[in-house]
Amino acid sequence: MSIQSKSAVAKGDGTFIITHVTVAEPKADELLVKIKAAGLCHTDYDSLSWGKPIVMGHEGAGIIEKVGKDIKGLKVGDQVLLNWATPCLQCFQCQEGNQHICENNSPVVAGGNGHTPGHAHLEGSQWEGKPIERSFNLGTLSEYALVKESAVVKVEEENLNFSAASIISCGVMTGYGSVVNSAKLAAGSSAVILGCGGVGLNVINACEISGAGKIIAVDINPNKLELAKQFGATDVILANKADKGLANVAEQVKTMLGGRGADYAFECTAIPALGAAPLAMIRNAGTAVQVSGIEEDITIDMRLFEWDKIYINPLYGKCRPQIDFPKLVRLYKKGDLKLDEMITKEYKLDDLQLALDDMLAGKNAKGVIVFD
Ligand SMILES: NC(=O)c1ccc[n+]([C@@H]2O[C@H](COP(=O)([O-])OP(=O)(O)OC[C@H]3O[C@@H](n4cnc5c(N)ncnc54)[C@H](O)[C@@H]3O)[C@@H](O)[C@H]2O)c1
Ligand SMILES: [Zn+2]
Ligand SMILES: [Zn+2]
Repeated sequence: MSIQSKSAVAKGDGTFIITHVTVAEPKADELLVKIKAAGLCHTDYDSLSWGKPIVMGHEGAGIIEKVGKDIKGLKVGDQVLLNWATPCLQCFQCQEGNQHICENNSPVVAGGNGHTPGHAHLEGSQWEGKPIERSFNLGTLSEYALVKESAVVKVEEENLNFSAASIISCGVMTGYGSVVNSAKLAAGSSAVILGCGGVGLNVINACEISGAGKIIAVDINPNKLELAKQFGATDVILANKADKGLANVAEQVKTMLGGRGADYAFECTAIPALGAAPLAMIRNAGTAVQVSGIEEDITIDMRLFEWDKIYINPLYGKCRPQIDFPKLVRLYKKGDLKLDEMITKEYKLDDLQLALDDMLAGKNAKGVIVFD
């Protein structure tokens, strides 16, 4: 029996509507999840302009409402986090241990501008009489999400705070994983974080958890720098929009670090003109990390690579959902991973426009949509 699921649907032209999507019974390898909370990330704003209708949202946590007949080890009532990696575990990259860039299922790598086999059957979600895709194979800004089994990670913890748990799904995983799984940041080292939004603050938190000795946060918004200190920044630099390639910031960073530069720099602004900026922040043989996923053409002065510098571009913090998500929940329980502090405001789905406006205005570390 299908159900009506109140949902945010991006129309593809830069706008969205709150409407009802008809959701079918799960197929054999699918689950229906009653969403309790869904975090917002800048990508959700981007999804408004993807040129087609889409059930919005790619961060979320909830409770299993229905299970497909082949599902083992998960049952109705289980608490789950959703992940958009949905690894097939069979392809070359999954076998290599790179589940986040699964050649069959990744909505980024395998998807182009369409859905992948990591998506639940397309006809299972219908809007205005036609099948509709779910953002990043999930579509969490909806009362119910029809997803593949591989899109969920069971969480045993009693009285789970669903708001906190929901943001692990993308922003936390991306930030933490870029530091721990990709850069493999060494204790005692120095790091610069460019942009202290939802992703950047998680990078800062992960640098602190990894024992970084100096964590320098950079942003043009003074409020973000105050937040950065709460999440572990040891130093902050207020940048100026007019500072081309953040060259002045790079000079300040070098002065703070013996004239040499940082061991690591993480780019989290998503501003194409700052694509080369992390290279300017690091010492010779340092590591620059592109966290925001800039995809535009940019011009790079190759001298910024001198000498022996490495620039990596990880997707989704190299997420291995069944390994990383339980680890992140344990770090949260221990008090090291600051998730409650990350959530500035909770909103109802009807207030999604306000939540997006607040995000774009830089008011929130992270906004979360909560469901009854
Ligand atoms: N690659 C991935 O796997 C992945 C995953 C999640 C999100 N993302 C992307 O990461 C990006 C960041 O996401 P977010 O939610 O943190 O966005 P956000 O808008 O909350 O954060 C961007 C921050 O950059 C700051 N900023 C702007 N201009 C600056 C400048 N000139 N110098 C320094 N700081 C500046 C802003 O003040 C803001 O604090 C988004 O584009 C998102 O799509 C990528
Ligand atoms: Zn795979
Ligand atoms: Zn995201």
